[in-house]
Amino acid sequence: MSDNVSTYRDSFKSSIGFVLATAGSAVGLGNLWRFPYMTGTGGGGAFVLVYLVVMLVVGVSLLLVEFSVGRNGKANAVDSYKKIHPAMQWIGYLGFFSAFIFLSYFSVVGGWTIHYAIKSLTGLLSLAPDQMGGAFGGFIGNPVLPLIYHLFFMGATVFIIANGISGGIEKYSKILMPALFVMILIILVRSVTLPGAFEGVVWYLKPDFTKINGSTWVAALGQVFFSLSVGMSGMVTYASYLKKNENLIKTAVQVSLTDTLVAILAGFMIFPAVFAFGMEPGEGVGLLFISLPAVFAQMPMGTIFSFIFYVLVFVAALTSAISILEMPVAYIIEKKNVGRPKAAFIVGSISFVLGIAVSFSFGIWGSFQVFGMNIFSLFDYLGSNISLPLGTLGASIAVGWLWKKQGAVSEITNNGELGVSIANLWFFLVKWIVPVFIFIIFLKSVGII
Ligand code: PHE
Repeated sequence: MSDNVSTYRDSFKSSIGFVLATAGSAVGLGNLWRFPYMTGTGGGGAFVLVYLVVMLVVGVSLLLVEFSVGRNGKANAVDSYKKIHPAMQWIGYLGFFSAFIFLSYFSVVGGWTIHYAIKSLTGLLSLAPDQMGGAFGGFIGNPVLPLIYHLFFMGATVFIIANGISGGIEKYSKILMPALFVMILIILVRSVTLPGAFEGVVWYLKPDFTKINGSTWVAALGQVFFSLSVGMSGMVTYASYLKKNENLIKTAVQVSLTDTLVAILAGFMIFPAVFAFGMEPGEGVGLLFISLPAVFAQMPMGTIFSFIFYVLVFVAALTSAISILEMPVAYIIEKKNVGRPKAAFIVGSISFVLGIAVSFSFGIWGSFQVFGMNIFSLFDYLGSNISLPLGTLGASIAVGWLWKKQGAVSEITNNGELGVSIANLWFFLVKWIVPVFIFIIFLKSVGII
């Protein structure tokens, strides 16, 4: 049976391919776009502190939970959870639906990065800092232009996934991530040396404890899950393509560290500049697109840097988007007997249409509200604050309570070959701490406590 499976299921060709693909999934708009704006609206250093606590207590463990379920299952997320316990298939189905929601708005925002790459070469940087917000608002509120970029972004995502995981994902994840890292460092240096930048550094690093309340925890939890790509079974799906001898513990730690580092550095690149230019840290979704052009305008060869930076953000977004798309595609291929390109096309098309509504919610449909949220905020809320916490809660219960300890621990230690004491600690966290932690915050988020 397993022979049969491995002949028709693709797999990662090398361990570095898997590490890069998972890091590629984790590092994306979540770090560069969502983390700074959540920090901005969540009160600076206080949010950062809570974020780090959540990352450490539940984030890393959950990444390992998804890896273990996927590699053990060797199948799409629904079947992988079913293998642990038939009652747990719902986690896979939940992820399936979350994928459409995430992909829809991810592609819209991914599209913005393309526009900004092009605009960098055509006059964006000649605007004064106080004009950047207006330019951004005008662009995202336009009913047509963002849709063209959205279509392009979605098309690129579908194209890569249609070509399969080793030819597609692995190949595209290799060179550009390190390039992005170097670029962030360059921008960071310019940003923190701007006159007046120090105030931003302090705001970013010094937690004001009075700002920490229930919503800070709710927001940080959603952000950690989003950023690590956990809760939607994207990592279950990737790990299902993994050979048995990879070191899951090491990969989970490496990926979480990289992901956290990139998010923290993104804040260092953005907030000093925000304060130096007298902008608003609580600006919201535009923060990445409003503050950085003002920094580039102050750099020698700023035009080129700006162009390269937005292209790299686009690539980082793309390597995340493909992991979102792969999740439902894997399910459709295996359960519905549909070919890979067709499955990718179907999911991509539906998400594209949903994304049109998201894009309109920044402009012509801006006043259309459900529960006091526009369509974008609603999608983001349903995805990050409802679906990801439920998915991770289910995953930790499945692994901690329904999969026998022996099974789970032997999966992540490759049958007791590596890291047994870490694995025991992990299992303890997953069984006793992670679900309780998520449950309490989830109750808070839906207003029960
Ligand atoms: N982690 C990705 C990012 O930070 C987004 C993502 C969310 C990917 C959920 C997969 C699943 O951009």
